[in-house]
Amino acid sequence: MNLQTSRTVLSSARDVVILGAGLIGLATALELADRGASVTVIECGRSLASASTAAAGMLAADDPCNHESLRDLSHLSIERYPGFLRRIEQLSGLQVPFQTETTLQYIAGGPALRLSEHSIDPRQLAVALLAAIGSTPIQLLESTRVTSIQTDASGNRLRLEDGSSLAARAILYATGAWTSETSLLLEGESLSVSPRKGQMLRVRISPSHPLQEVHRSERIYIVPRTHGPQAGTAVIGATVEEAGFDTAVNQHDLDGLRSLAAALIPSLGSIDDAPTVESWAGLRPATPDLLPMLGSGLQSGRFVATGHYRNGILLAPATAVVMADLLEGRSPAVDLSAFSPLRFHATS
Ligand code: GLY
Repeated sequence: MNLQTSRTVLSSARDVVILGAGLIGLATALELADRGASVTVIECGRSLASASTAAAGMLAADDPCNHESLRDLSHLSIERYPGFLRRIEQLSGLQVPFQTETTLQYIAGGPALRLSEHSIDPRQLAVALLAAIGSTPIQLLESTRVTSIQTDASGNRLRLEDGSSLAARAILYATGAWTSETSLLLEGESLSVSPRKGQMLRVRISPSHPLQEVHRSERIYIVPRTHGPQAGTAVIGATVEEAGFDTAVNQHDLDGLRSLAAALIPSLGSIDDAPTVESWAGLRPATPDLLPMLGSGLQSGRFVATGHYRNGILLAPATAVVMADLLEGRSPAVDLSAFSPLRFHATS
């Protein structure tokens, strides 16, 4: 699909409508807009209000717990991250610094690995990315619901709750944990993504024991914030729960996270030494095999970028590039066959 040509063909239509203004949707919108496409992003709530700002922000490309199939996409994202953050800074005037440079990865029964790995503060990223998007021609419609989508040879027509409609050459689903619900709008398309709740807390770190590195085992991570509004605190996470769309936190689970963290850094076990600043729960988008869905949907003109599960912050820049490539009809630099959105559709 040549986006430049499509604009001529559908003069009043958008080249791409992206459903979902999470990090994946907005990063892809920015990439497409930088390539000359006209883009509208439709979000039923507020932008970047869910998993994108609930995350700890580790760019954990080499976490030994990651699925092998994620390796190339993760490394593409790590390569792209500095340029992604620079572009956001150019547009917004806001820096999003790396918070940490090293991760201590604890392996059961073995010595800890010292990984060269960055983390960011996703809330700092959200502020800067929204300012960046606001400085581009990208149209961002928040608190807006799509009630139906009709697709024919000329493209897609989306009807909105207020009765208005808009046309789009292509639609990209970037709807995170809500993808299964949203895909019902499309006849024949059923995308299986469900929420996996993660409870977390943020604690104040004593200035006498500053933390500069991420500490991570299979069950727990501690992610210090060293720059910006959260400097001097650390995020401790996270539970992994199948609890539907529930985002309640409970003290028992937070206490459990604290004691796992204290096994790695004993001072985190004490509420006096490390008082709680806040706690929250986010909803990770999980596919049945826990790998993302990146690619075309069942019908032409429909694309999917969702299911990033525990790696949405890491994978956003690479996802933006490969999805923009697909939307332009180019072959992405990374083999996406393991991530086909059609892999769960039974063939008859
Ligand atoms: N990305 C960390 C988590 O899912 O808890």
